[in-house]
Amino acid sequence: MAPLNRAAVTAVDSTGQVADILSLPDHLLDALWRVEAASLQPATTPGGLVIAGMGGSGVGGELARAALWPWLERPLELARGAELPAWTGPETLVLCSSYSGNTEETLAAYDAAGAAGAPRVVSASGGELPARARRDKVPVIPLPGGFQPRAAVGYSFVVALEVAAVAGAAPSLRADVEDAAPLARDLAAEWGPEGGEDSDAKRLARALHETIPVISGPGIGAAAAYRWKCQFNENAKIPAFAAELPEAGHNEIVGWESAASFAPFSAVFLEDPDAGDRMAARVGLTAEIVGGQAHTVERVAPRGETRLQRLVSHVLLGDLVSLYAAVLRGADPIGIEPIDRLKAGLAAR
Ligand code: F6R
Repeated sequence: MAPLNRAAVTAVDSTGQVADILSLPDHLLDALWRVEAASLQPATTPGGLVIAGMGGSGVGGELARAALWPWLERPLELARGAELPAWTGPETLVLCSSYSGNTEETLAAYDAAGAAGAPRVVSASGGELPARARRDKVPVIPLPGGFQPRAAVGYSFVVALEVAAVAGAAPSLRADVEDAAPLARDLAAEWGPEGGEDSDAKRLARALHETIPVISGPGIGAAAAYRWKCQFNENAKIPAFAAELPEAGHNEIVGWESAASFAPFSAVFLEDPDAGDRMAARVGLTAEIVGGQAHTVERVAPRGETRLQRLVSHVLLGDLVSLYAAVLRGADPIGIEPIDRLKAGLAAR
């Protein structure tokens, strides 16, 4: 198969999305600084935190929830839509996260939080959301402009982590973020276009080429699986699906019985060493059971010592695999024309 070196990537990636992916370590650290500069005051919110956001902005909340799960002291709920949980009120902090600041659902969630009397925090690079926040004297964490929202995942992730601490929902993982950045830098060198042609990222992209990836995992692997799925969709423009273990072992595993007769599905398992031996056995058995019907089966162990490092490792690997998948297909990773068409169609009504 074709090489995945710098020349091959540049020939397809017209706007240099790969550079934004490889900058993840800098984004993580810059996000810490931006939260600090916003001088948020600790919130008196025993009701915890609701994170409202869609797509590439919302996924940061999902990753943060997975990172914080063992240490959560208060509820951390995700609102991926215009509606907030009915219990949202003055004792709940609501983080409204939209990279563009113009996403309809997130703007509606912002208004709904205000109507419920909930304290709010906004994170955006511009647009209507920070304008409303300034009007309402709501604190804003300003993000740098010029990225695709999905390429700003380091920002949406760290902002969600740190706002969870502000809400008293979990301890700050600031030191863990600082520890994850150097590892991410090493991995970016190893897995990037200048890395070996047999690197994990390039090998996986080739192994999954011309298949429909079904990505799953336990714990941090489940949250990362959702990120992989979205990145295959948006960067490589292919269908991809995500599932969560152990739940998928109680339903989805049966669907695999006839998978090969429909399409070349690949099964990708993102492991989580913190989930324990019994979960590792479950992943192994699931891989064996679906293996006969899958075009390809891959088990991916994260790198790193801490939960946060491992999650960052899974995210960075998936971002690069999806980028290489785009290159192998000759699809420019930048375009998201169907999303733009949907947003424009709705705006016109
Ligand atoms: C585009 C992307 C999308 C957007 C989503 C919401 O790169 O990732 O999933 O994130 O359409 O838009 P924002 O993030 O601007 O609120």
